[in-house]
Amino acid sequence: MKINVGIIGHIEGPRLSQAIANLLKDEKGFQFDFLEMPYNKNSVSKFIEGKDLVFVCNPGESDINKYVRSHCQKQKIDFFIPNEIDNRRMPTLEAKYGLSPVFQLILGYNNSGYINSKLVEDLTAEKMLKLWKDAYIERPYNFPKKDKDLWNWFESDDCPYPWLQLDLNVPHEKMYMEAINVKNKSIMHRSDEAGGTWNATTLFGLASDITSGYDYVGVDKTKYPTKPKPAWTELADECPITKRFFMEEFPLKNYSRIRFSWIEPGGYILPHQDAENRCMGFNLAINNPKGAGVYVKDWGMIPYEPGTAFIWNVGTIHWVHNDSNKARLHMIIHGDPDKEKLLPLMRKSWDKYGWNK
Ligand SMILES: [Fe+2]
Repeated sequence: MKINVGIIGHIEGPRLSQAIANLLKDEKGFQFDFLEMPYNKNSVSKFIEGKDLVFVCNPGESDINKYVRSHCQKQKIDFFIPNEIDNRRMPTLEAKYGLSPVFQLILGYNNSGYINSKLVEDLTAEKMLKLWKDAYIERPYNFPKKDKDLWNWFESDDCPYPWLQLDLNVPHEKMYMEAINVKNKSIMHRSDEAGGTWNATTLFGLASDITSGYDYVGVDKTKYPTKPKPAWTELADECPITKRFFMEEFPLKNYSRIRFSWIEPGGYILPHQDAENRCMGFNLAINNPKGAGVYVKDWGMIPYEPGTAFIWNVGTIHWVHNDSNKARLHMIIHGDPDKEKLLPLMRKSWDKYGWNK
């Protein structure tokens, strides 16, 4: 049996629309038609003819939506029109898949409006993730070819390649034991982005209990009436192996902040950019339970394993979801690149890991 589905408007752009169509067609024999903007009453009317089900990817009560609704009702065609979009409504799904609320609504993750259950049954989380990757991860890009290009990659927009695994030996098991010992000193970090599931302690920074900037909400100004100077905190003394690793091995200097960053089971960080432009961040995984991921829009999941360190572009949209029953522990490190250490390390790392090696 064929089910003719019509999609009016964009769903995350044509590539993802097509990926949805391919996935559902392969799995279930759906047949998809797309009507992309601009559209008008005539084109909509013609498009709807013969469809079993129509999705309108255009939230709210526009004229076209009203027209689609009355036309589908008259023709007894099933239809779905999202009636409102609220970015914070389903943070976990959004965090896990980077799916916009419109897309979630289309796939049925909402109780409001009409949805054809035939379309969403068996559509498991794994399939959705596969779909996301299939839609976005295969894309042309320019590899850095020479050392100069490799450093340029770090500093400029010339190469979109988003991450590089560093060939570092991270004593992650010992660091984990040290982190566990001070975990009860953690404070809740950026609850607006993580709903209280993100906890952190500062080893180097303004103070062990300041995990963001001095002016960020939550800093106790009676305890810290003036901005402290960045320094190793008292917690670093309790974590000597971790401290030594950053003093002797890590390719940054003049540190401004080094933190343990816990994402609790089921926790998340909503999609965001840490900078508007390309911006290289340093982050290493002390543990990385199966199901915990850092996802970068257009590229997919960064292949973190316990003890791996990456430089990656935190200026692209990214999000975190810990879909496991164990707390995930990474470290976020800020400082100046120590070019004498970092460039040879990048060369070595590129030869070893490159892109998808
Ligand atoms: Fe971030």
